[in-house]
Amino acid sequence: MSDIFFEIHADNPREGPGDFTSTKRAFLALKNLPGKPSILDIGCGPGKQTLDLAQITKGNITAVDNHESFLAQLNRQIISQGLQKRVQAVKGDMFSLNFPPQSFDIIWSEGAIYIIGFEQGLAAWKRFLKPKGYIVVSELTRLKENPPAEAREFWEGAYPAMRDIAGNMAIIAAAGYSLIEHFTLPESAWLEEYYAPLQKRVEKLKIKYQNDPAALKVLAAEDFERESYRKYAAYYGYVFYLMKQVV
Ligand SMILES: C[S@@+](CC[C@H](N)C(=O)[O-])C[C@H]1O[C@@H](n2cnc3c(N)ncnc32)[C@H](O)[C@@H]1O
Repeated sequence: MSDIFFEIHADNPREGPGDFTSTKRAFLALKNLPGKPSILDIGCGPGKQTLDLAQITKGNITAVDNHESFLAQLNRQIISQGLQKRVQAVKGDMFSLNFPPQSFDIIWSEGAIYIIGFEQGLAAWKRFLKPKGYIVVSELTRLKENPPAEAREFWEGAYPAMRDIAGNMAIIAAAGYSLIEHFTLPESAWLEEYYAPLQKRVEKLKIKYQNDPAALKVLAAEDFERESYRKYAAYYGYVFYLMKQVV
């Protein structure tokens, strides 16, 4: 990460849209779990959803990210909340995870599977699931057809692979999972949980970097992304997909 990008993204509560209520809703929809399920949280970032899961379940959670400062931030919380016995933050690459086959009841990934790709992630991570295990991910999804040109241009640049719900459902079925439920994150999970703390940071950095055009350009891109969401939230959003392994 460049310095300015790191400064924008260091010490935020979360690195993508999400909220406690949605994490809990998704978890509670999973049926017939063991009392203490083993959970792998991939692309955990600073670990807000990891800690939420630790509150919702008595399970053991392995949280993986490749960015050390996010892991350090999560580790501070693990210690302050006394969760060392059942939550581990480990460095790892989602493209080449190194766990024994069939070791988890649940794979969880909020706002991160896009990095490896929705289809690729569902295929690559499956081997770590116990038979009939669950995989729960949130994925940026087209919600409404015919977006305004500005919205389409922005997302074709930022995430050209974005599909609609039907497109993702076809991938889920082809990958050997059954879809239990899907739901769209509320706008507050973007605007209040993710963008509000980020915006405060961006405003401070605009003052710090007022004479640095390159940094100001990066900060303006953050504003543009947030305002694009505000304008076009009806057209795209994060959808939680709750899947169960069938083959
Ligand atoms: C958009 S953030 C989401 C983080 C977190 N789940 C959240 O919602 O706050 C994506 C995360 O994926 C991590 N990441 C990026 N590439 C990765 C890789 N190859 N392996 C593991 N994690 C990766 C980033 O460091 C970042 O924490």
